[in-house]
Amino acid sequence: MDSTPGAWRAADDFLTEILVGRDPALEAALAAQREAGMPEIEVAPVAGKLLNLLVRMCGARRVLEIGTLGGYSTIWMARGVGAEGRVVTIEAEAAHAEVARRSIDAAGVGERVDIRVGRGADVLPTLAGGFDLIFIDADKESNTVYLDWAAKLGRPGTVVVVDNIGRDGEIVDADTSDSKVIGTREGLRMLGDDPRFDATALQTVGVKGWDGFALALVV
Ligand code: DHB
Ligand code: MG
Repeated sequence: MDSTPGAWRAADDFLTEILVGRDPALEAALAAQREAGMPEIEVAPVAGKLLNLLVRMCGARRVLEIGTLGGYSTIWMARGVGAEGRVVTIEAEAAHAEVARRSIDAAGVGERVDIRVGRGADVLPTLAGGFDLIFIDADKESNTVYLDWAAKLGRPGTVVVVDNIGRDGEIVDADTSDSKVIGTREGLRMLGDDPRFDATALQTVGVKGWDGFALALVV
């Protein structure tokens, strides 16, 4: 097989079929997002399940998400925290938050999810700390701001996941003028340099093309 975006997608669809399966609540959340004309940039199904498994592997009971979008990843993580667990999720767009609220409630995990509407930089200072897992998936230009708050709102042992660190390989383009790529790269440098974190990153190919995740531990 040639390594092409089509082949990545076919293999990802296969993995999704055998490891994730059909999921009416999640599919309804995606349909609602599409119907509302929101960007279709949620995490891939296999990545949503990865977030769910990470939450459970860590025994996380308090999860923070920055970037709710339509609530797809939120539902995956809310399922992982258990009935007594809580997900606080921050969404800058009020219209997106409304769509997410309906989908999260319809998925049966509404009691576990607290959606805070506002820009991350405004909402994060209002939160109490002690999060067990933090998922950063919002405007890439602010990744260093979000990582700084992740260190403050976490504790030693908190797991931090950052979406979209691959960006079609553009992170190595020193001449890029793409502010998302620059923000992503600055976040990665911070994870490498800032003594509050120990981190790595994995590139991925699949339904979202060539991208990846950073995984960090607050030390
Ligand atoms: C973009 C943002 C995302 O969170 C994502 O997963 C893919 C793309 C973007 O803004 O380009
Ligand atoms: Mg993303």
